[in-house]
Amino acid sequence: MAAAATPRALILDDDLDSLEALKGLVAQAHFQVRSAQSLKEAREAMKGEMFDLALLDIELPDGSGLELIEPLETEHSAEVVIVTGYGSVDSAVEAFRSGVVDYLTKPVELNRLRLLLNKVQHTVDLRNQVRNLREELRQLGRFGPLIGVSPPMQRVYDMIERVAPTDACVLVVGETGTGKELVAETLHGLSRRARQPFVDINCGAVAPTLIEAELFGHEKGSFTGATRSRAGLFERANGGTLLLDEISEMPIDLQVRLLRVLETSQLRRVGGDHNIDVDVRIVAASNRDPEQAVRDGQLREDLLYRLSVFPIQLPPLRERGRDVELIAVHFLDELNRERGTSKIFAPETLQKLARHSWPGNVRELRNAVERIHILAQGDVIRPDVLPLSNGASSTGNGASGESIESGSLQVAVGSSIAEVERRLILATLEQLCGDKRATAEKLGISLKTLYNRLNVYRAR
Ligand SMILES: Nc1ncnc2c1ncn2[C@@H]1O[C@H](COP(=O)(O)OP(=O)(O)OP(=O)(O)O)[C@@H](O)[C@H]1O
Ligand SMILES: [Mg+2]
Repeated sequence: MAAAATPRALILDDDLDSLEALKGLVAQAHFQVRSAQSLKEAREAMKGEMFDLALLDIELPDGSGLELIEPLETEHSAEVVIVTGYGSVDSAVEAFRSGVVDYLTKPVELNRLRLLLNKVQHTVDLRNQVRNLREELRQLGRFGPLIGVSPPMQRVYDMIERVAPTDACVLVVGETGTGKELVAETLHGLSRRARQPFVDINCGAVAPTLIEAELFGHEKGSFTGATRSRAGLFERANGGTLLLDEISEMPIDLQVRLLRVLETSQLRRVGGDHNIDVDVRIVAASNRDPEQAVRDGQLREDLLYRLSVFPIQLPPLRERGRDVELIAVHFLDELNRERGTSKIFAPETLQKLARHSWPGNVRELRNAVERIHILAQGDVIRPDVLPLSNGASSTGNGASGESIESGSLQVAVGSSIAEVERRLILATLEQLCGDKRATAEKLGISLKTLYNRLNVYRAR
């Protein structure tokens, strides 16, 4: 566990006397102090270390201290205080507009400075506590809603931690059921946008003709049925995060529009005549290799470059070692809590789960545990209850895994039609390794209907 870190302060002032006086006061409050007399020096310092607090003079030989507010706040998460000898009303207004916590005029009032240092110290302590707690949970195999301690998942956590505080686009790639959506939610939850909306759209589930209006909104009368104006998902996600799931399913001409919105942070509703500013962080997800989607002409290369500023590759469950057991136990605990039971896995059952190749990944594991929970008679779940056979792995990767026996579906007389439909849909999806398009085709329903059903099941 990391030791409680000493908070770091940057003091920027071109007047040496005042700089020395401030340095003394801040150091007395147990901050580690770095000083600078010009913007250039301050920028150098900011490259080399992270600051929790910055005291900035405004008028400097090479520019205005106000220029540093943005990078200090967004990249360093620092508390920024303007300290100036001029006390000019104009610059104070400008500083407040950019979200500065406080404004001190020279000579600095000691009590105000002390109060401020106290507040920053408190914020830094809290932040460290949260960080330490997160680190402890990580050792136990939890990272937000994600479960797993395996090295490939630790690498995923590292990446999420690094990229979450920035506004960079993130592309999450992984087989079906590996947790792409959960990763997107985790990224949002750890970002400064956490209190703003998280909105998602599955580009494969919305009819190509509707997706444009869905994303960008429309004005009244812009197409048949548009009886009133409506904001799109971009506008609804404003200030927050938008997940574009199954990005390679988005019609190619719309990908051009999307790219323009990402580049300009402005959009125009369908049928609209003016631009609307939007501030949205984009996370895209795909269960296809995006490079291959580009080669197949399904994904524009320029959009891929834009989206994959920060790619996160989610490993398939079969490469996560003992995470399978950890996640299975977690799902079982959840079911026990929900249903007031206290079932546990026998060690051989966990071993059998660990040997399966899980082509449908974590989703398949979740469904399997749910079924096992229903089927198990006593409190100890024995391996014979597992609906896993020793057949060849359905991933076709030659692994000696087992496959789910899902060729037939047993339905009890007296089940409701809705329940039978639910089980049929889930079983088919599982048999087809989570391939929704193939599942919809096989069941003779539209992809949209399939998504609607799955959303309902997920909400239950
Ligand atoms: N590491 C994990 N720990 C706990 N639960 C997980 C983990 N990864 C995924 N899940 C759960 O598994 C299920 C599938 O995850 P999710 O929907 O995020 O996958 P996906 O990669 O988006 O799948 P698809 O490609 O089919 O859209 C969800 O119920 C999710 O909560
Ligand atoms: Mg998904």
